[in-house]
Amino acid sequence: MSQAEVTGTRRDFIHYAAGGVGLVTTGVAVWPLIDQMNPSADVQALSAIYIDVSGVAVGTQLTVKWRGKPVFVRRRTAAEIEAARATKVEDLPIDRLAQNANKPGADAADENRSLDEAGEWLVMIGVCTHLGCVPVGNGAGEFGGWFCPCHGSHYDTSGRIRKGPAPRNLDVPVARFTDATTILLG
Ligand code: FES
Repeated sequence: MSQAEVTGTRRDFIHYAAGGVGLVTTGVAVWPLIDQMNPSADVQALSAIYIDVSGVAVGTQLTVKWRGKPVFVRRRTAAEIEAARATKVEDLPIDRLAQNANKPGADAADENRSLDEAGEWLVMIGVCTHLGCVPVGNGAGEFGGWFCPCHGSHYDTSGRIRKGPAPRNLDVPVARFTDATTILLG
């Protein structure tokens, strides 16, 4: 990870901690393209949003803002899916629950965290479960998923905590596909 990525993440977190910022267009909040605009109260109160994922290429991540928090929408590569599914639940050192609002109480098998059966799509709240920083994505960290530079938490390609002080896997919010390219969040 470059210094620029670390710096950017810290800056994002500072803005986030200061009360939440973002740009909302046609129901989708994009994070953190414009960090000086404060969404109005009615925008903040939106309980559900539709996300157009038609432009998300394999191996990239879209970050949207939902209920004041960043949400990661990652379209995983075959290698990421394979790595996530090859990891046994009993080998997870910190949290063996899916932490998926769509599957309460399920174990942390990757199949219980991904949005679709094939595992291409992963939707997670982009907030470190330690103290709330926004983890860096795109293959960051020792497990190729996300890394939180604040205190060194490493998440795998399924967003499961593998090393560091974070006590829980990244949370999976209520979400589902409404058609081939649209996710309803909330
Ligand atoms: S807030 Fe992420 S490791 Fe502490």
